[in-house]
Amino acid sequence: MTLEELREKSGKTLQDLDACAPEEILRLFEGVRELLEQDARQLATGPASSGGQDAARDEELRERWLSRKRGLLTLINEHWLKAAPKPLKPVAGVSFNKLHARACEIFPDNVAVAAGRKAKASSLPDLTLPGLRRPLGSLHPITQVQREIEEIFINLGFSVERGPEIESVYYNFDALNIPESHPSRDDWDTLYIDAQTVLRTHTSPVQVRALEKYGAPLYIIIPGKCYRRDNPDSTHSPMFHQIEGLAVGPNVTFADLKGTLDFFARRFFGEKTRTSFHPSFFPFTEPSGEVAISCPFCDGGGCRVCKHSGWIEVMGCGMVHPEVLRHGGVDPEQYSGWAFGLGVDRYAMMKFGIDDIQLFFQSDVRFLGQF
Ligand code: DAH
Repeated sequence: MTLEELREKSGKTLQDLDACAPEEILRLFEGVRELLEQDARQLATGPASSGGQDAARDEELRERWLSRKRGLLTLINEHWLKAAPKPLKPVAGVSFNKLHARACEIFPDNVAVAAGRKAKASSLPDLTLPGLRRPLGSLHPITQVQREIEEIFINLGFSVERGPEIESVYYNFDALNIPESHPSRDDWDTLYIDAQTVLRTHTSPVQVRALEKYGAPLYIIIPGKCYRRDNPDSTHSPMFHQIEGLAVGPNVTFADLKGTLDFFARRFFGEKTRTSFHPSFFPFTEPSGEVAISCPFCDGGGCRVCKHSGWIEVMGCGMVHPEVLRHGGVDPEQYSGWAFGLGVDRYAMMKFGIDDIQLFFQSDVRFLGQF
């Protein structure tokens, strides 16, 4: 049988070919097998023969037999085997399976043959190909700054404490001595979930939660997300980040507060940084203060960042109000404490020279990839 004859026969059924007895079928398959072996001898062998022509020829041979649509074996399966009358099926089936197994042996693996389009597949990977570059993620700039601030306080002996973002009115306001009439309680500033539940407007409620939980002495910082009814613009976001500090112990004084915050400012903004404390008011501290640092960008000379004042306000602070200690179950006669609260987003903006807070929350990898 020639290849042309086989081409023709593979399109016909066994009945059409008058192969109605097992011996005839075996003979027929025998003929096919001979043609297959002929092609096997034509295969370029071994990795040495890596010429493109050889590879193309090899693939042509494989296609001739094993192509899923037009391959001789596909046709034989279709017309001889599937269409065979029942009694002949076992013989035809066994012969076909043997033939197919042999073809797969000769043309081992389709993927390798496909790769052979470029170069006859050698068993070694091509080490000169460029690697796959997997983009590496990185910490969000807010997270980086938050951790940097945490690190400074952890080294001073503080622990990190967290609290819920969905907070009760009691912890968010009452326990902090914030009177019913305080404007921050208004719908306008606070996102209420129901009359007794808010999205916390600051991290200060965790002061009372932690005092209740651990008692005094206590040295903690409290990082976390806070929420206010602010319209987003370049300096406001309805969700933002704060870090709260709380130090409660016997004989903790305002001098401790100043010394600690001065140390922190130099660590974070640079050793040349000076701090300045101004009186202020918060219901949960007495006395209260505002901390400003000498502008790290102009060394206090005046620039755009510090609005030409030479100073930048960086946090609120004060001595913990006795009422707050009491709410936390701590006796103000026995213990005193200081606290501070700062906005992480602003620190990150200063550190990285970013003028729009919205950039932090837009998940644009072109922006985030720079940190
Ligand atoms: N909770 C205040 C705010 O969100 C910030 C603050 C001021 C926290 C003074 C403090 C503090 O612990 O002592 O504006």
